[in-house]
Amino acid sequence: MSNPSETSAQIIQAQAGAAPIEYAFVLGTGLGSAMEGVEDAVTIPFSELPGFPVPAVSGHAGNLIVGTQDGMRVAYMQGRTHYYETGDPRAMAVPLETLAMIGVQNLILTNSAGSVKADLYPRSLVLLTDHINFSGTNPLIGLASDGGFVSMTDAYDPRLARRLKRAATTAGVQLHEGVYMWFSGPSFETPAEIKMARTLGADVVGMSTVPEVIIARRLGLRVAAISIITNFGAGFQGGNPTHLETRETAMQGAIALRRLLRTMLRTKEEAWGIRQPGTPR
Ligand code: HPA
Repeated sequence: MSNPSETSAQIIQAQAGAAPIEYAFVLGTGLGSAMEGVEDAVTIPFSELPGFPVPAVSGHAGNLIVGTQDGMRVAYMQGRTHYYETGDPRAMAVPLETLAMIGVQNLILTNSAGSVKADLYPRSLVLLTDHINFSGTNPLIGLASDGGFVSMTDAYDPRLARRLKRAATTAGVQLHEGVYMWFSGPSFETPAEIKMARTLGADVVGMSTVPEVIIARRLGLRVAAISIITNFGAGFQGGNPTHLETRETAMQGAIALRRLLRTMLRTKEEAWGIRQPGTPR
């Protein structure tokens, strides 16, 4: 009997073909339009893929799109599920396992985030260099004896980051760098928590991405993550975020994000070299 990831992988390959996929993207709140320009696009609603989330939050579309962009096979998850929706830190495990099974090598996660750094204004793009898991949970709890002791050194792949930075320069898009702190949500942070985040070394705060990075590293995927700043954190520079504000600002930032991602796909790079799935690099 096959598990949900295997079944989902079979459904995707039956509809979109079995050629390996170079890049997969997870598009966060308000960023669903960042995938415009996919050729021969096959769109599969998450509701047809066992174990995929049917998003409850407005701003998350809930489709997997597979196709070709700039000569590369790509997959986009338009929408994700968050820990705060179910209380399950493994909520994104099946989609990510499925992506690994259909041959995805590189995973680019996007999200909207609050800024706790004065020069990271709303609509800035921030390439994540590291994270702080402030949630108290971990998607690999219970899996320690099953490959759960995953190294998080270089969790954000330095070579993938270099590709994105080069693409940003080529595209004329300003790409900041920063450390992301994961709060569970769904309430926004208090001003005291935002002050703490800054004191502890965060540049941006948000409610997603970190469990996905941890799961993806266990699967041996190369990971990069980009935040669109939608607001200043609560009490910082007058920040008092609302869901509506974060959605609307993310949609504005999506234009620069799209330019950055398309430029990266167009830039032909040296080969990565051979990697065995699941092995540390
Ligand atoms: N806090 C947490 N998550 C967020 C924020 C924020 O200020 N903005 C967008 N996502």
